[in-house]
Amino acid sequence: MASPLVSIDDLTVQFRTDRGWANAVEGVSFDIAEGECVGVVGESGSGKSVTALSILRLHARGAARYSTGAISYAGRDLLQASERDLRRIRGRDIAMVFQDPMSSLNPVLTICDQISESLRLHQGMSRAAARKKAIELLDLVRIPDAARRVDEYPHRLSGGMRQRVMIAIAIACRPRLLIADEPTTALDVTIQAQILELLRDLRAELGMAVMLISHDLGVIAEFARRVIVMYAGRIVEDAPVDVLFQSPRHPYTEGLMASMPALDGGAARLYAIPGRIPDPDETIDGCRFGPRCAHSEPICRTAPPRLIAIADGHRLRCTPRTRAADLT
Ligand SMILES: Nc1ncnc2c1ncn2[C@@H]1O[C@H](COP(=O)(O)OP(=O)(O)O)[C@@H](O)[C@H]1O
Ligand SMILES: [Mg+2]
Repeated sequence: MASPLVSIDDLTVQFRTDRGWANAVEGVSFDIAEGECVGVVGESGSGKSVTALSILRLHARGAARYSTGAISYAGRDLLQASERDLRRIRGRDIAMVFQDPMSSLNPVLTICDQISESLRLHQGMSRAAARKKAIELLDLVRIPDAARRVDEYPHRLSGGMRQRVMIAIAIACRPRLLIADEPTTALDVTIQAQILELLRDLRAELGMAVMLISHDLGVIAEFARRVIVMYAGRIVEDAPVDVLFQSPRHPYTEGLMASMPALDGGAARLYAIPGRIPDPDETIDGCRFGPRCAHSEPICRTAPPRLIAIADGHRLRCTPRTRAADLT
């Protein structure tokens, strides 16, 4: 098999708390293949963004530390790379789109200026060439009347259009990996669907890999081939999307699934997993999901579960369920 585009191996990221350094993300390992579409899902606070930001080493120095792990890309470890190498990789090889397009855009620069910035930086384009390319990119992200829109300021655009601009900026240098962190969370449902469709089309047209992060399993189901489920900073399940939906193994995945709104938008009351996600500095013996788990057994309270491959491409972090899978 071809070697992966990005390989995260045993990543642990810690933040400083009143009680010392706490693991926001612990022992996270997964690969992203060239052109692959990976979804990462989990409730707010499960470590999705911390993992994503680590790939480009975007955490503030001093506040966060990478206590274990390696993130390999193109034969080097990004956690050890020089700032200079990282600057070259950010935006050119690996680009990111965030939840809130307004706060990521600069209000005093035109759309043209903002798209041109990375083209001029990474590709040394002239002002005129960058402008031409910016118009092409706005076309590519399906902003109507691109030649006129390119000279506007962000506040003139709707939320959905701003997110399209963010995506145009992100793909300007044809990255090999696009990380989209809750890219549709701030948008109306219809706009959400359009942005997801755009991302899907762009992925196919440009052949880039996409890591799509969402707290909403519905969004992930629409988009990803493979789904990584995170809980309290750990991967708890990782499976191809159809396997995950047909036979979820982790009780947390089952809970997320039960709390998905019906596709017809029916008025049925939404299920919510009881309890709340623990903070990184909370001590919990055994499984961190245990206190919320309806299937918890005595073993779950004593030994932390390990992430184990239970089938080809299917990993699970749940002691009783892993044992049950072994029996079949
Ligand atoms: N800059 C930070 N300083 C301290 N703790 C943080 C920081 N960023 C994230 N965390 C903590 O790390 C955990 C994971 O956060 P995050 O990755 O943002 O979750 P999400 O899955 O919602 O993206 C949370 O408990 C969060 O409070
Ligand atoms: Mg987040």
